[in-house]
Amino acid sequence: MTTTPAPAYAPAGGPAVTTWSWHEGSFMSTAEARVPLTTQALQYGTGVFEGIRAYVLPGGRELAVFRLDDHYRRFLRSCRLLRIDLPYDADDLARATVELLRRNATAADTYIRPLGYKLSMLAGTRPGVGLAGVSDAVSVSTFLMGHYAPPGGLRCAVSSWRRPADGVLPVRAKVCGGYVNSALALDEARAAGLDDAILCNERGQVAEATTANVFAVSGNRLVTPAATADILEGITRDTVRELAGDIGLACEVRDVQRSELLVADEVFLTGTGLGIAPVVELAGRPIGDGTPGPVTRLLSERYTALVRGELDDDRGWLTRVPLNPAPAPHLTEETL
Ligand SMILES: Cc1ncc(COP(=O)(O)O)c(C=O)c1O
Repeated sequence: MTTTPAPAYAPAGGPAVTTWSWHEGSFMSTAEARVPLTTQALQYGTGVFEGIRAYVLPGGRELAVFRLDDHYRRFLRSCRLLRIDLPYDADDLARATVELLRRNATAADTYIRPLGYKLSMLAGTRPGVGLAGVSDAVSVSTFLMGHYAPPGGLRCAVSSWRRPADGVLPVRAKVCGGYVNSALALDEARAAGLDDAILCNERGQVAEATTANVFAVSGNRLVTPAATADILEGITRDTVRELAGDIGLACEVRDVQRSELLVADEVFLTGTGLGIAPVVELAGRPIGDGTPGPVTRLLSERYTALVRGELDDDRGWLTRVPLNPAPAPHLTEETL
């Protein structure tokens, strides 16, 4: 049996899980939070999730959660598509998240993972994969996770897997089951010794990477696929469009052909996890001169400064969380 080696830049031992989670309305030890084996989402992928980041601010005594409200609004839209009906609104979920960060009290960059899911059939529900008549649940867990993109830029494949069309599953929602597509595409890329893959949609146009959106740069102009290209409308993608506007770069949102990426001056990916990460090689060819380009570097620097509270937060995108002096001890996957 062969296993694909983890890329050299992956953090050893994986991300550390924090002590506390928020599970079905209560704060509890992450080690004790459990879901039943019969959980419908576990069996059919009928859950939705978000990925949110909190960054340590200069001085190390405060975290800033980036675009918390926008993430929870998207989360609740994803819930709606799967008929996951939670007794919380975006403000309630944001408050629970801030309290969770405060309890874990970690002065480290943190990844926040809300999960809404179909739990179990209510009395009188006929067996089947239906969404109605199934109870709903929600949890939020957090991991310590720093920057993980390879420093010299990403080497990407154009995947042999296609991004599913919205008529197959609702791609504008972060539906757990839909991520089988991302997992297969990432696995294929890694088996070929690459970092990530860009997927085309059923029309053969560029859609996005496995967990990030795609931009190309030609001269002073950015271009990124439209929402109708079967993408997840990324919050980082939206942030980049705003940052580009701030520095006078035009951004076209339209169909993008794969050959347009191959001849672009620069290509970069955007996502909450990755941040803004240059693609230096695609389908075995260098992008530009094969090194991170100036526009990507500039946007990436501004993005980093913004999320770390070093630029004015004119748009109110940062939720500041003061930390207590004594952090809770953290768990590893082995201790869970
Ligand atoms: C499929 C997919 N596309 C794009 C993104 C980027 O979205 P965001 O910038 O909101 O993290 C993600 C990450 O959540 C994703 O999973």
